[in-house]
Amino acid sequence: MTILVTGGAGYIGSHTCIELVEAGYDIVVADNFVNSCMEAVHRTRKLCGVDFPFEQIDLTDYEATDRLFDKYKIDAVIHFAGLKAVGESVKIPVTYYRNNLDSALSVLEAMKKHEVKSFIFSSSATVYGPEAPVPYNEATPVSRSTASPYGNTKLMIEYILKDTVKAIPGFNAVLLRYFNPVGAHASGEIGENPTGIPNNLMPYVAQVAVGKLDMIHIFGNDYDTPDGTCQRDYIHVVDLAKGHVAALKKVKENCGLFVCNLGTGKGTSVLEMVKAFSRSCGKELPYEFAPRREGDLPAFWADPAFAKEQLGWVAEKGIQEMCDDVWRWQSKNPDGFPQD
Ligand code: NAD
Ligand code: UD1
Repeated sequence: MTILVTGGAGYIGSHTCIELVEAGYDIVVADNFVNSCMEAVHRTRKLCGVDFPFEQIDLTDYEATDRLFDKYKIDAVIHFAGLKAVGESVKIPVTYYRNNLDSALSVLEAMKKHEVKSFIFSSSATVYGPEAPVPYNEATPVSRSTASPYGNTKLMIEYILKDTVKAIPGFNAVLLRYFNPVGAHASGEIGENPTGIPNNLMPYVAQVAVGKLDMIHIFGNDYDTPDGTCQRDYIHVVDLAKGHVAALKKVKENCGLFVCNLGTGKGTSVLEMVKAFSRSCGKELPYEFAPRREGDLPAFWADPAFAKEQLGWVAEKGIQEMCDDVWRWQSKNPDGFPQD
Protein backbone atom coordinates (compact mmCIF):
# COMPACT_ATOMS: atom_id res chain seq x y z
CA MET A 1 0.00 0.00 0.00
CA THR A 2 1.47 3.37 -1.04
CA ILE A 3 0.83 6.50 1.00
CA LEU A 4 1.32 10.00 -0.38
CA VAL A 5 2.70 12.11 2.48
CA THR A 6 2.17 15.77 1.61
CA GLY A 7 4.35 18.13 3.64
CA GLY A 8 6.48 15.10 4.48
CA ALA A 9 9.68 17.16 4.70
CA GLY A 10 8.20 19.09 7.62
CA TYR A 11 8.32 18.47 11.34
CA ILE A 12 5.41 16.06 11.89
CA GLY A 13 5.50 14.65 8.35
CA SER A 14 9.14 13.55 8.54
CA HIS A 15 8.56 11.70 11.83
CA THR A 16 5.45 10.08 10.37
CA CYS A 17 7.39 8.86 7.31
CA ILE A 18 9.62 6.85 9.63
CA GLU A 19 6.68 5.22 11.42
CA LEU A 20 4.95 4.46 8.12
CA VAL A 21 8.00 2.71 6.67
CA GLU A 22 8.47 0.88 9.96
CA ALA A 23 4.86 -0.33 9.72
CA GLY A 24 5.51 -1.69 6.22
CA TYR A 25 3.97 1.02 4.02
CA ASP A 26 5.52 2.39 0.83
CA ILE A 27 5.61 6.18 0.82
CA VAL A 28 5.89 9.02 -1.67
CA VAL A 29 6.68 12.43 -0.21
CA ALA A 30 5.69 15.77 -1.76
CA ASP A 31 6.74 19.15 -0.41
CA ASN A 32 7.61 22.59 -1.81
CA PHE A 33 10.05 23.43 1.03
CA VAL A 34 8.21 26.62 1.98
CA ASN A 35 8.97 25.66 5.58
CA SER A 36 11.46 22.78 5.27
CA CYS A 37 14.47 21.65 3.27
CA MET A 38 16.03 18.76 1.35
CA GLU A 39 18.36 17.91 4.23
CA ALA A 40 15.31 16.84 6.27
CA VAL A 41 14.38 14.45 3.45
CA HIS A 42 17.94 13.05 3.24
CA ARG A 43 18.00 12.42 6.98
CA THR A 44 14.52 10.92 7.04
CA ARG A 45 15.49 8.53 4.23
CA LYS A 46 18.54 7.51 6.22
CA LEU A 47 16.52 6.92 9.39
CA CYS A 48 13.93 4.92 7.41
CA GLY A 49 16.64 2.93 5.65
CA VAL A 50 14.68 3.47 2.41
CA ASP A 51 15.28 5.88 -0.47
CA PHE A 52 11.61 6.73 -0.81
CA PRO A 53 10.55 8.90 -3.77
CA PHE A 54 10.42 12.64 -3.14
CA GLU A 55 8.78 15.26 -5.40
CA GLN A 56 9.33 18.97 -4.92
CA ILE A 57 6.00 20.45 -5.93
CA ASP A 58 3.63 23.16 -4.82
CA LEU A 59 0.37 21.40 -4.10
CA THR A 60 -1.65 24.52 -4.81
CA ASP A 61 -0.69 23.80 -8.45
CA TYR A 62 -3.40 21.38 -9.56
CA GLU A 63 -1.64 20.30 -12.78
CA ALA A 64 1.53 19.37 -10.87
CA THR A 65 -0.53 17.55 -8.24
CA ASP A 66 -2.41 15.64 -10.93
CA ARG A 67 0.89 14.58 -12.56
CA LEU A 68 2.01 13.22 -9.18
CA PHE A 69 -1.03 10.94 -9.12
CA ASP A 70 -0.31 9.91 -12.74
CA LYS A 71 3.26 9.01 -11.85
CA TYR A 72 2.60 6.97 -8.69
CA LYS A 73 -0.13 4.53 -7.83
CA ILE A 74 -1.32 6.17 -4.59
CA ASP A 75 -3.66 4.30 -2.24
CA ALA A 76 -4.09 6.89 0.52
CA VAL A 77 -3.02 10.44 1.36
CA ILE A 78 -1.82 11.88 4.65
CA HIS A 79 -2.10 15.62 4.20
CA PHE A 80 0.34 17.57 6.36
CA ALA A 81 1.12 20.32 3.84
CA GLY A 82 0.09 23.74 5.02
CA LEU A 83 1.27 26.96 6.58
CA LYS A 84 0.98 26.83 10.37
CA ALA A 85 2.17 29.98 12.13
CA VAL A 86 -0.83 31.37 14.00
CA GLY A 87 0.53 34.91 14.43
CA GLU A 88 1.67 35.15 10.81
CA SER A 89 -1.76 34.00 9.64
CA VAL A 90 -3.32 37.03 11.35
CA LYS A 91 -0.97 39.32 9.37
CA ILE A 92 -1.28 37.60 5.97
CA PRO A 93 -4.65 35.82 6.07
CA VAL A 94 -5.12 35.62 2.31
CA THR A 95 -1.79 33.80 1.89
CA TYR A 96 -2.92 31.30 4.52
CA TYR A 97 -6.37 30.75 3.03
CA ARG A 98 -4.89 30.47 -0.48
CA ASN A 99 -2.14 28.03 0.45
CA ASN A 100 -3.99 25.81 2.90
CA LEU A 101 -7.31 25.63 1.07
CA ASP A 102 -5.89 25.39 -2.46
CA SER A 103 -3.42 22.64 -1.56
CA ALA A 104 -6.15 20.56 0.11
CA LEU A 105 -8.51 21.16 -2.83
CA SER A 106 -5.88 20.23 -5.45
CA VAL A 107 -5.16 16.99 -3.67
CA LEU A 108 -8.86 16.17 -3.27
CA GLU A 109 -9.54 16.94 -6.92
CA ALA A 110 -6.66 14.75 -8.08
CA MET A 111 -7.83 12.01 -5.71
CA LYS A 112 -11.31 12.14 -7.23
CA LYS A 113 -9.90 11.87 -10.76
CA HIS A 114 -7.62 8.97 -9.81
CA GLU A 115 -10.23 7.27 -7.60
CA VAL A 116 -8.16 7.45 -4.44
CA LYS A 117 -10.57 7.40 -1.51
CA SER A 118 -8.58 7.58 1.72
CA PHE A 119 -7.51 10.88 3.26
CA ILE A 120 -6.00 11.67 6.66
CA PHE A 121 -5.95 15.31 7.64
CA SER A 122 -3.80 17.24 10.15
CA SER A 123 -6.40 19.23 12.02
CA SER A 124 -5.93 21.01 15.32
CA ALA A 125 -7.49 21.30 18.76
CA THR A 126 -7.99 24.96 17.87
CA VAL A 127 -11.23 23.98 16.02
CA TYR A 128 -12.94 23.46 19.39
CA GLY A 129 -12.75 27.23 19.97
CA PRO A 130 -12.43 29.14 23.23
CA GLU A 131 -15.76 28.12 24.77
CA ALA A 132 -15.36 24.32 24.69
CA PRO A 133 -15.32 22.54 28.06
CA VAL A 134 -12.03 20.89 29.10
CA PRO A 135 -11.08 18.16 28.42
CA TYR A 136 -11.90 18.55 24.73
CA ASN A 137 -14.05 15.71 23.54
CA GLU A 138 -14.90 14.80 19.93
CA ALA A 139 -18.63 15.02 20.74
CA THR A 140 -18.23 18.77 21.42
CA PRO A 141 -19.33 20.69 18.33
CA VAL A 142 -16.60 22.69 16.63
CA SER A 143 -16.62 26.44 17.06
CA ARG A 144 -18.16 28.66 14.35
CA SER A 145 -14.83 30.45 14.10
CA THR A 146 -11.42 29.88 15.66
CA ALA A 147 -8.92 32.37 17.12
CA SER A 148 -7.02 32.86 13.84
CA PRO A 149 -7.10 32.59 10.04
CA TYR A 150 -4.81 29.55 10.43
CA GLY A 151 -7.38 27.86 12.67
CA ASN A 152 -10.16 28.84 10.30
CA THR A 153 -8.39 27.03 7.43
CA LYS A 154 -8.50 23.87 9.59
CA LEU A 155 -12.21 24.39 10.26
CA MET A 156 -12.92 24.99 6.56
CA ILE A 157 -11.00 21.92 5.41
CA GLU A 158 -12.87 19.85 7.99
CA TYR A 159 -16.14 21.04 6.37
CA ILE A 160 -14.81 20.31 2.88
CA LEU A 161 -13.97 16.77 3.97
CA LYS A 162 -17.38 16.21 5.58
CA ASP A 163 -19.05 17.20 2.32
CA THR A 164 -16.65 15.06 0.27
CA VAL A 165 -17.43 11.98 2.35
CA LYS A 166 -21.15 12.59 1.75
CA ALA A 167 -20.67 13.12 -1.97
CA ILE A 168 -18.27 10.33 -2.97
CA PRO A 169 -19.36 6.77 -2.15
CA GLY A 170 -16.58 4.88 -0.38
CA PHE A 171 -14.59 8.04 0.45
CA ASN A 172 -12.98 7.91 3.92
CA ALA A 173 -11.62 10.94 5.76
CA VAL A 174 -9.93 10.87 9.14
CA LEU A 175 -9.66 14.25 10.83
CA LEU A 176 -6.95 14.13 13.45
CA ARG A 177 -7.09 17.00 15.92
CA TYR A 178 -3.59 17.45 17.30
CA PHE A 179 -2.93 19.05 20.65
CA ASN A 180 0.59 20.49 21.20
CA PRO A 181 3.19 18.44 19.30
CA VAL A 182 6.72 18.65 20.73
CA GLY A 183 9.72 16.32 20.95
CA ALA A 184 12.01 14.96 18.28
CA HIS A 185 13.23 11.64 16.91
CA ALA A 186 15.35 9.85 19.53
CA SER A 187 18.35 9.89 17.16
CA GLY A 188 18.53 13.70 17.39
CA GLU A 189 18.79 13.76 13.58
CA ILE A 190 15.40 15.34 12.83
CA GLY A 191 13.22 17.70 14.82
CA GLU A 192 11.34 20.99 14.73
CA ASN A 193 13.21 23.62 12.76
CA PRO A 194 11.46 26.99 13.06
CA THR A 195 12.66 29.97 11.05
CA GLY A 196 13.38 33.17 12.95
CA ILE A 197 12.52 33.61 16.62
CA PRO A 198 10.19 30.77 17.65
CA ASN A 199 6.67 31.66 18.73
CA ASN A 200 5.88 28.34 20.36
CA LEU A 201 7.08 27.44 23.81
CA MET A 202 9.21 24.35 23.25
CA PRO A 203 11.44 25.62 20.44
CA TYR A 204 11.88 28.91 22.32
CA VAL A 205 12.98 27.10 25.49
CA ALA A 206 15.32 24.88 23.44
CA GLN A 207 16.99 27.94 21.90
CA VAL A 208 17.50 29.48 25.35
CA ALA A 209 19.04 26.18 26.48
CA VAL A 210 21.49 26.19 23.58
CA GLY A 211 22.40 29.85 24.15
CA LYS A 212 20.81 31.34 21.03
CA LEU A 213 18.27 33.29 23.11
CA ASP A 214 18.84 34.87 26.53
CA MET A 215 15.71 34.40 28.56
CA ILE A 216 12.39 32.57 28.57
CA HIS A 217 9.37 34.87 28.91
CA ILE A 218 6.46 33.11 30.56
CA PHE A 219 3.29 34.74 29.30
CA GLY A 220 1.12 35.17 32.39
CA ASN A 221 1.41 33.79 35.93
CA ASP A 222 -1.98 34.89 37.18
CA TYR A 223 -4.19 32.33 35.44
CA ASP A 224 -6.62 30.21 37.44
CA THR A 225 -4.34 27.15 37.23
CA PRO A 226 -2.34 25.34 39.94
CA ASP A 227 0.83 27.44 39.45
CA GLY A 228 -0.76 30.39 37.65
CA THR A 229 0.79 29.57 34.24
CA CYS A 230 -1.13 28.10 31.27
CA GLN A 231 -1.57 24.37 30.87
CA ARG A 232 -1.40 22.50 27.57
CA ASP A 233 -1.50 18.90 26.38
CA TYR A 234 2.02 18.37 24.99
CA ILE A 235 2.32 15.24 22.87
CA HIS A 236 5.54 13.64 21.65
CA VAL A 237 5.82 13.88 17.86
CA VAL A 238 6.68 10.17 17.59
CA ASP A 239 3.48 9.25 19.46
CA LEU A 240 1.62 11.60 17.14
CA ALA A 241 3.25 9.94 14.11
CA LYS A 242 2.11 6.54 15.37
CA GLY A 243 -1.42 7.92 15.62
CA HIS A 244 -1.36 8.30 11.82
CA VAL A 245 -0.41 4.66 11.35
CA ALA A 246 -3.36 3.73 13.58
CA ALA A 247 -5.61 6.02 11.55
CA LEU A 248 -4.66 4.21 8.34
CA LYS A 249 -6.08 1.02 9.82
CA LYS A 250 -9.32 2.89 10.53
CA VAL A 251 -9.49 4.02 6.93
CA LYS A 252 -9.23 0.40 5.77
CA GLU A 253 -12.35 -0.34 7.85
CA ASN A 254 -14.24 2.06 5.56
CA CYS A 255 -14.90 4.53 8.36
CA GLY A 256 -16.49 7.33 6.30
CA LEU A 257 -15.91 10.53 8.30
CA PHE A 258 -13.92 9.83 11.43
CA VAL A 259 -12.86 12.57 13.85
CA CYS A 260 -10.33 11.91 16.57
CA ASN A 261 -8.19 13.79 19.09
CA LEU A 262 -4.50 13.02 19.31
CA GLY A 263 -3.40 14.10 22.76
CA THR A 264 -2.24 12.60 26.02
CA GLY A 265 -5.11 13.73 28.25
CA LYS A 266 -2.72 15.49 30.64
CA GLY A 267 -2.19 19.20 31.12
CA THR A 268 1.33 20.49 31.82
CA SER A 269 2.02 24.08 32.87
CA VAL A 270 4.56 26.39 31.25
CA LEU A 271 6.54 26.42 34.48
CA GLU A 272 6.54 22.60 34.68
CA MET A 273 7.76 22.45 31.10
CA VAL A 274 10.62 24.90 31.76
CA LYS A 275 11.67 22.88 34.82
CA ALA A 276 11.57 19.59 32.91
CA PHE A 277 13.72 21.10 30.15
CA SER A 278 16.20 22.39 32.74
CA ARG A 279 16.61 18.79 33.93
CA SER A 280 17.18 17.61 30.34
CA CYS A 281 19.91 20.13 29.58
CA GLY A 282 21.46 19.96 33.06
CA LYS A 283 21.22 23.67 33.90
CA GLU A 284 18.66 26.04 35.37
CA LEU A 285 17.14 27.93 32.47
CA PRO A 286 16.57 31.64 33.07
CA TYR A 287 12.95 32.79 32.91
CA GLU A 288 10.87 35.81 33.81
CA PHE A 289 7.15 36.35 34.00
CA ALA A 290 5.71 38.56 31.28
CA PRO A 291 2.18 39.81 30.54
CA ARG A 292 -0.40 37.37 29.22
CA ARG A 293 -0.26 36.72 25.47
CA GLU A 294 -3.41 37.86 23.70
CA GLY A 295 -5.71 35.02 22.70
CA ASP A 296 -4.18 32.40 25.00
CA LEU A 297 -6.56 30.09 26.83
CA PRO A 298 -5.73 29.28 30.47
CA ALA A 299 -5.79 25.51 30.12
CA PHE A 300 -6.90 22.78 27.74
CA TRP A 301 -6.14 19.16 27.08
CA ALA A 302 -7.60 16.23 25.19
CA ASP A 303 -10.03 13.60 26.25
CA PRO A 304 -8.00 10.73 24.71
CA ALA A 305 -10.59 7.98 25.42
CA PHE A 306 -12.05 7.85 21.91
CA ALA A 307 -8.61 7.41 20.29
CA LYS A 308 -7.89 4.54 22.64
CA GLU A 309 -11.23 2.87 22.02
CA GLN A 310 -11.41 3.38 18.25
CA LEU A 311 -7.78 3.39 17.13
CA GLY A 312 -6.25 1.33 19.92
CA TRP A 313 -3.78 4.20 20.22
CA VAL A 314 -2.46 5.89 23.34
CA ALA A 315 0.39 8.35 23.73
CA GLU A 316 3.21 6.67 25.62
CA LYS A 317 5.95 9.24 26.06
CA GLY A 318 5.98 11.67 28.96
CA ILE A 319 7.17 15.26 29.37
CA GLN A 320 10.71 14.35 30.42
CA GLU A 321 11.27 12.21 27.32
CA MET A 322 9.86 15.00 25.14
CA CYS A 323 12.36 17.47 26.65
CA ASP A 324 15.27 15.00 26.50
CA ASP A 325 14.64 14.35 22.82
CA VAL A 326 14.31 18.05 21.94
CA TRP A 327 17.53 18.76 23.81
CA ARG A 328 19.35 16.01 21.88
CA TRP A 329 18.10 17.45 18.55
CA GLN A 330 18.79 21.08 19.51
CA SER A 331 22.25 20.46 20.97
CA LYS A 332 23.33 18.36 17.98
CA ASN A 333 21.85 20.90 15.53
CA PRO A 334 21.93 24.34 17.20
CA ASP A 335 21.15 26.03 13.88
CA GLY A 336 18.64 23.44 12.71
CA PHE A 337 19.24 21.66 9.42
CA PRO A 338 22.29 22.85 7.48
CA GLN A 339 21.28 24.90 4.47
CA ASP A 340 21.46 23.05 1.15
P1 NAD B 1 5.76 22.09 9.02
O1 NAD B 1 5.71 23.49 8.53
O2 NAD B 1 7.01 21.60 9.62
O3 NAD B 1 5.34 21.08 7.85
C1 NAD B 1 4.44 21.44 6.83
C2 NAD B 1 5.10 21.14 5.50
O4 NAD B 1 4.21 21.48 4.43
C3 NAD B 1 6.39 21.95 5.29
O5 NAD B 1 7.45 21.07 4.98
C4 NAD B 1 6.05 22.87 4.12
O6 NAD B 1 7.17 23.13 3.32
C5 NAD B 1 4.97 22.08 3.40
N1 NAD B 1 4.04 22.88 2.59
C6 NAD B 1 3.32 23.97 2.99
N2 NAD B 1 2.59 24.41 1.95
C7 NAD B 1 2.84 23.59 0.89
C8 NAD B 1 2.39 23.55 -0.45
N3 NAD B 1 1.53 24.46 -0.95
N4 NAD B 1 2.85 22.57 -1.27
C9 NAD B 1 3.73 21.65 -0.80
N5 NAD B 1 4.19 21.64 0.47
C10 NAD B 1 3.75 22.60 1.30
O7 NAD B 1 4.54 21.90 10.05
P2 NAD B 1 4.21 20.69 11.02
O8 NAD B 1 4.37 21.18 12.40
O9 NAD B 1 4.90 19.48 10.58
O10 NAD B 1 2.66 20.55 10.75
C11 NAD B 1 2.12 19.64 9.82
C12 NAD B 1 0.63 19.84 9.75
O11 NAD B 1 0.06 19.65 11.04
C13 NAD B 1 0.21 21.24 9.30
O12 NAD B 1 -0.93 21.14 8.48
C14 NAD B 1 -0.14 21.92 10.60
O13 NAD B 1 -1.06 22.96 10.43
C15 NAD B 1 -0.73 20.78 11.39
N6 NAD B 1 -0.67 21.00 12.83
C16 NAD B 1 0.53 21.28 13.40
C17 NAD B 1 0.62 21.54 14.76
C18 NAD B 1 1.94 21.87 15.40
O14 NAD B 1 1.95 22.38 16.50
N7 NAD B 1 3.08 21.60 14.78
C19 NAD B 1 -0.54 21.49 15.55
C20 NAD B 1 -1.76 21.18 14.94
C21 NAD B 1 -1.81 20.94 13.57
C1 UD1 C 1 -0.26 27.28 19.50
C2 UD1 C 1 -1.34 27.64 18.53
C3 UD1 C 1 -2.12 26.40 18.13
C4 UD1 C 1 -1.16 25.32 17.65
C5 UD1 C 1 -0.15 25.05 18.76
C6 UD1 C 1 0.85 23.99 18.48
C7 UD1 C 1 -1.89 29.93 19.23
C8 UD1 C 1 -2.95 30.83 19.78
N1 UD1 C 1 -2.22 28.64 19.12
O1 UD1 C 1 -0.86 26.80 20.67
O2 UD1 C 1 -3.05 26.70 17.13
O3 UD1 C 1 -1.89 24.16 17.35
O4 UD1 C 1 0.56 26.27 19.00
O5 UD1 C 1 1.84 24.42 17.60
O6 UD1 C 1 -0.82 30.37 18.86
N2 UD1 C 1 4.44 30.51 26.07
C9 UD1 C 1 5.24 31.25 26.90
N3 UD1 C 1 6.38 31.78 26.39
C10 UD1 C 1 6.75 31.63 25.08
C11 UD1 C 1 5.92 30.86 24.23
C12 UD1 C 1 4.76 30.32 24.76
O7 UD1 C 1 4.95 31.43 28.08
O8 UD1 C 1 7.80 32.16 24.67
C13 UD1 C 1 3.22 29.88 26.62
C14 UD1 C 1 1.95 30.32 25.95
O9 UD1 C 1 1.43 31.46 26.54
C15 UD1 C 1 1.07 29.08 26.15
C16 UD1 C 1 2.07 27.90 26.19
O10 UD1 C 1 3.34 28.49 26.44
O11 UD1 C 1 0.44 29.18 27.39
C17 UD1 C 1 2.13 27.13 24.92
O12 UD1 C 1 2.29 28.05 23.85
P1 UD1 C 1 2.55 27.57 22.34
O13 UD1 C 1 3.66 26.60 22.31
O14 UD1 C 1 2.65 28.79 21.49
O15 UD1 C 1 1.24 26.74 21.99
P2 UD1 C 1 -0.30 27.19 22.06
O16 UD1 C 1 -0.46 28.63 22.24
O17 UD1 C 1 -0.99 26.27 23.01
